[in-house]
Amino acid sequence: MNGRNWLVTDHGTCQELKAAEDEKILTTPYRLYQFLADLDSILARFDDDAERLKRICPRVRRLMDDSPWLQLQYTFPDPQKGWAVSMLYDEPGYPITVQMVSWEGGRVSTIHNHATWGLVMLLDGEEKNTFWKRSPDAENLDRIERAGDRTFSSGDIICFLPDAIHCVEAMGEKPTISFNLYGMTIYDRRFVFDPKARTAKTF
Ligand SMILES: [Fe+2]
Repeated sequence: MNGRNWLVTDHGTCQELKAAEDEKILTTPYRLYQFLADLDSILARFDDDAERLKRICPRVRRLMDDSPWLQLQYTFPDPQKGWAVSMLYDEPGYPITVQMVSWEGGRVSTIHNHATWGLVMLLDGEEKNTFWKRSPDAENLDRIERAGDRTFSSGDIICFLPDAIHCVEAMGEKPTISFNLYGMTIYDRRFVFDPKARTAKTF
């Protein structure tokens, strides 16, 4: 699946991510155990989240292109909430979570960060991401301001650093579908932001 790779930084900039070259010959097809072993090895070798994402990103692309066993089951968005999450893998104490996420067309998410590294590969539809950055003043430590936006299409991979702040709008009529991978969330550093009230609350 063709697409571009992006990195959203803690300061709300969105820049093209140059994926690291594969350091070894990968077997084909790319099996689940190999993908998880590769992630384990990357997380053990690199502490820096941007360095990790540079290496995780090409492996996710390869997983999508060369894993015929992958079923990618997803649920259609809940009509009330406007979204649905299907958890594909979430083992207690293990720092990798894999989800399929769908959003109903026209819905907009909260403004939030993830408090861990994250990777979203859009598999169907278009999603507009608006990026925000912290901009505190003397009275409002949780003040944020808009830093930009970009619309992503099917095949694009968007990587997030832990303090990247964004909201997502599903564009068009039909639901958007994405494959999402996250590290270990630090819950007391994960916030939903209100730019008018200038507040940040954990969720
Ligand atoms: Fe998000």
